Amino acid sequence: MTDQAPTPYAGPKRVLSGVQPSGDLHLGNYLGALVKFARLQHEQPTFIFVADQHAITVWQDPKKLKDQVREIAAAYLATGLDPAVATIFPQSAVPEHAELAWIFNCVARLGWLDRMTQFKEKSGKHKERASVGLYTYPVLQAADILVYKATHVPVGEDQKQHLELTRDIAGKFNHDYDAPGFFPLPDPLTQGPGARVMSLRDGAAKMSKSDPSDNSRINLIDDADAIAQKIRKAKTDAEPLPETAEGLDGRPEAKNLVAIYAALAGSTEAEVLAEFAGQGFGAFKPKLADLAVSIMGPISAEMRRLKSDPGEIDRILTKGAEKARETAAPTLAEVKKLVGFWG
Ligand code: TYM
Repeated sequence: MTDQAPTPYAGPKRVLSGVQPSGDLHLGNYLGALVKFARLQHEQPTFIFVADQHAITVWQDPKKLKDQVREIAAAYLATGLDPAVATIFPQSAVPEHAELAWIFNCVARLGWLDRMTQFKEKSGKHKERASVGLYTYPVLQAADILVYKATHVPVGEDQKQHLELTRDIAGKFNHDYDAPGFFPLPDPLTQGPGARVMSLRDGAAKMSKSDPSDNSRINLIDDADAIAQKIRKAKTDAEPLPETAEGLDGRPEAKNLVAIYAALAGSTEAEVLAEFAGQGFGAFKPKLADLAVSIMGPISAEMRRLKSDPGEIDRILTKGAEKARETAAPTLAEVKKLVGFWG
């Protein structure tokens, strides 16, 4: 007997992604995710949310959480998301995510979650003290995506494993509930040199909001002086830049700065090296700083302007949540029917 290929999803293409409101956004978030949102919104229906339900898997001050959500929303708008085109909303304002997540908790297997590296990293040595929510975090992420039947998910490389789990959940649900092609098996969009931006202090560590050293990252709200200074201080080596990308092998810090330049310029590492081969970091860093300031400066200025009018951000988020529910509610209703639930 041969296994039959599962029936493919035949519905419309949709883009979905989200960012947690759990700290300042940095260049990695921008290049790995945000910069793609604004571009994709013109290609497919696009849903971009603020993942406040994910954020509380680790403690968040309730007095600050709404402002943190506004901060991410301001970043979305400042990087070019248009609320007249994309649907922008807070996750907690669309209860269908959490309701679908419960059903998915019963579809996903413990063995699948046990493999998740992000849980291992975030729970550290004392896994028994981590919240249960942190453990089932990727299941909620699958619900975020599939409640809109999203087909494309722009994220950084660190989210690939969660996307694989999403595909596993979608496939198992379709199979178990005899609903071939009901959920799509979504694709992560991780292409490009900004998919994994590394720390400016350590080319082996990811740029991250949880790194204790502020010099390890460029924050979206950093001003021009801070950006230039952090790039000046970035760890490098004494060699000049090579002619080809292979020449960067074994030079993680150099590779990272070249990748950042390429991602900011919208070019490739090969093109950057064609321009800078043979030059040392004394020459390259000021060029990178100028480029970073020219792109990040207007974003942080726009974020500050938007944040001075939180009422406008709240209106956008409230309207976005209503619009999101128009797509999420029918999916959940169909799921409940398939599962055999009441109502
Ligand atoms: P979060 O909030 O940690 O990060 C937001 C986005 O930024 C990307 N990213 C990076 N990209 C390149 N280099 C880096 N150093 C870097 N650091 C972070 C992340 O890959 C992400 O795309 N689980 C998600 C939030 C989420 C989500 C979703 C995303 C919840 N539900 C559904 C997509 C679809 C997260 O923790 O992102």
